[in-house]
Parts: sequence; structure tokens; C-alpha cells
Amino acid sequence: MLMFRVKLLIILSFTLIGFAACFDSRPKAFVLADSKSYETSLFRQNCAICHGPEANGRTLYDGTVVPSLREGEFKFNTEAEIYKQIAEGGHGMLPFRNQLTERELRLMAEFVRRDLRKE
Ligand code: HEC
Repeated sequence: MLMFRVKLLIILSFTLIGFAACFDSRPKAFVLADSKSYETSLFRQNCAICHGPEANGRTLYDGTVVPSLREGEFKFNTEAEIYKQIAEGGHGMLPFRNQLTERELRLMAEFVRRDLRKE
């Protein structure tokens, strides 16, 4: 009888954990590989080479440390600041003012803040 209760308790706790996982309210991370949006394709073409395919950052062959666009201490927090970094570049990042259109620059700033950082 005791063993039965122990087993029942174990099964019950796993069921509860399972339920809890279903109601996890934390926002799911944006998976670039699963996305077909225009912003994602711009990211693949222009940004992934330095920031990595999932925007987690990487170290380049010359030792430049490219930050994650998802987490960490961000240097730029408002959309205007992020826009400026993308348009003008700086500290190892290329300026995109002449590579992307005005609309694309805005889309990318919004994409970083809304999708990657989940703010
Ligand atoms: C040549 C490599 C390179 C490319 C290409 C590149 N970046 Fe960067 N990026 C960097 C580096 C290096 C930094 C860190 C700059 C600094 O420390 O000020 C950075 C910083 C940033 C930041 C600021 C992060 C913060 O801390 O707030 C944003 C946002 C960003 N990049 C977005 C982009 C987007 C969007 C693209 C594509 C349109 C892109 N980057 C393409 C190298 C690159």
C-alpha cells in the first residue's frame, strides 16, 4: 500500500510539472531559423555574418567581439538609438545607411527591439 502511494505521488508530481510547463507564461524566444519574415531575410543577408545566425553574437576572426542582440547589457535601448547604430555603425559595426532603404533601417530597429529583445 505504501509503495502504491509513493508511486501515485510520483506520477502526480510529474503530471503537475507537465501542466506547469503548458502554462509557462514567459515569452518564447524568437527563432530566426523558423521565420520567413522580410526582417529575418534582411537579417540573414546583412547582420548574421557578424551577429551570428540566431543573433547570439560571436567573435570574428580578427578578435572583434560582436554582441548578442538578444541579451546582456545593451548599449542602446531606445528604438531611435538602435536605429542610429544600424544606420551609422561604429565600434566595429558597418554603417547600413547606404545598404538599406529608410524603411528597411526602421524595420530592422523595430525587429531588434520587438522580436529579438522581446521588450
Ligand atoms: C561587421 C560586423 C557587423 C555587422 C555586419 C553588423 N553588426 Fe551590429 N554590431 C557589430 C559590433 C562589433 C557591435 C558592437 C558595437 C559597440 O560596441 O558599440 C554591434 C552592435 C550592434 C547593436 C547595438 C547593440 C547594443 O548593445 O545595444 C545593434 C542593435 C546591432 N549591432 C544591430 C545590427 C543589425 C540589425 C545589423 C544588420 C543590419 C548589424 N548589426 C550588422 C558588428 C556588426
